[in-house]
Amino acid sequence: MQIFKNLFSSSKLTKPIDLSVLKTDMHSHLIPGIDDGAESLDKSIELITGLAQLGYQKLITTPHIQGDFYKNSRQNILPGLEQIRRELKKQNISIQIDAAAEYLIDDQFEAKYKSGDLITFGDKYLLVEFSYFNEHPNWKRFFFELQIEGFNIILAHPERYSYWYRNFSKYEELKDRGILFQLNTISLTGYYSIEVKKMAETFIDKEMIDFAGSDLHNLIYLEALQNARFEHYLEKLINSGKLLNAKL
Ligand SMILES: [Fe+2]
Repeated sequence: MQIFKNLFSSSKLTKPIDLSVLKTDMHSHLIPGIDDGAESLDKSIELITGLAQLGYQKLITTPHIQGDFYKNSRQNILPGLEQIRRELKKQNISIQIDAAAEYLIDDQFEAKYKSGDLITFGDKYLLVEFSYFNEHPNWKRFFFELQIEGFNIILAHPERYSYWYRNFSKYEELKDRGILFQLNTISLTGYYSIEVKKMAETFIDKEMIDFAGSDLHNLIYLEALQNARFEHYLEKLINSGKLLNAKL
């Protein structure tokens, strides 16, 4: 069986998948100069044009908000969004763009949600990520308190948290607690590592993915996203009928 699985994941589709079926991308770093994504307005426009060419009709861009590292907030995200919208209009590029954020679950996160000023999108969706190094000791309480307040939590790229690879029950617990999973589409190409690719495929096999996101930061990611369109597993994910992207 394993040999067939390997063949399946290494062969490519002959025709690219049309990403317009997803309609909306809900994870990217396109606001210029405020995180590790687009460094300038020109780069933002170049990346957005690339996403539009792939078929996306709407983008919800999600700058990092992380402790002392990326101290972003509504105060700089919204003016950045307006800057992009003005430039898109000027250049006659037709795509809808909104902004939210990607919150790191760190020691400063609790104060952020207790201030009552989290940036969400759609159905009170809140995009969060964990550290890549270790599990935060308080995530269960944080998520519970947020859910009481009506937030629908989306965990960004669950396939990238290697400390849980040998403890799959953690992922099952998250799902049991109603946490939605957003896969980075480019994980399917092996962009991050072969282990990340395998986890991405496992989540798809188990129908645990609710959103597909580009997590676009720069042109290298864009190229990986173009390549991801040839992955059988992306086709399988889209055909699962479970993705919520088009409802945003
Ligand atoms: Fe991200």
